[in-house]
Amino acid sequence: MKISSAKFISSSTSLAQCPNKKNIPEYAFIGRSNVGKSSLINFLTNSKVAKTSSTPGKTQLINHFLINEKWYLVDLPGYGYAKTSKKNKIEFNAFTKKYLLNRKNLMCVFLLIDIRLSPQKIDISFTNWLGENKIPFIRLFSKCDKINKEEIKKAIIQHEKALMETWERAPEHIISSSKKKIGKELILEKIQEMNALLKQ
Ligand code: GTP
Ligand code: MG
Repeated sequence: MKISSAKFISSSTSLAQCPNKKNIPEYAFIGRSNVGKSSLINFLTNSKVAKTSSTPGKTQLINHFLINEKWYLVDLPGYGYAKTSKKNKIEFNAFTKKYLLNRKNLMCVFLLIDIRLSPQKIDISFTNWLGENKIPFIRLFSKCDKINKEEIKKAIIQHEKALMETWERAPEHIISSSKKKIGKELILEKIQEMNALLKQ
């Protein structure tokens, strides 16, 4: 699938504010702050529609982008640990949570995980949270340009192992790099397949 247009539509701070056209499939990007969500949207769309930064916390709203006039990509704020909390509690916007739990046309969430880091508790907790809430998702290992092929293989095995406590089978994954332009075809293929599901 080719992307011929990518238009910024809106920035929302609640589910109610999100675009209300029905039957438009959408795909959201989530993951820790600075993992590369906004950069991935720019890479996929070959544009600069999403704002990126080397400082974590750049994206603060639910941003909708209309692709090929037919479906949405959604850039979400990153999550992190609550700084004040001693417990390992995931901190993410109440409105992001509500969006993920209730958005009817959300076909799939792409969960970005930095491939350079050993499996992080927060990413595992978030993976489990998506599973518990039956939100369809694909894990996207980002920044794979930063390590070599052998290290990528090892990292994936480590990540699969880390999920084995709670998952019978590791959920689907794709390896990506916005910098080296890796993973685009696979991601767009998945989206195309899911777009077809909503049209039936
Ligand atoms: P928040 O909006 O703060 O949650 O961050 P984000 O996940 O949207 O990250 P963003 O796309 O703004 O990128 C964060 C930093 O990572 C920037 O300095 C990017 O240049 C860098 N970055 C993003 N993708 C890649 C990648 O594939 N490879 C490398 N090497 N750097 C990347
Ligand atoms: Mg961002």
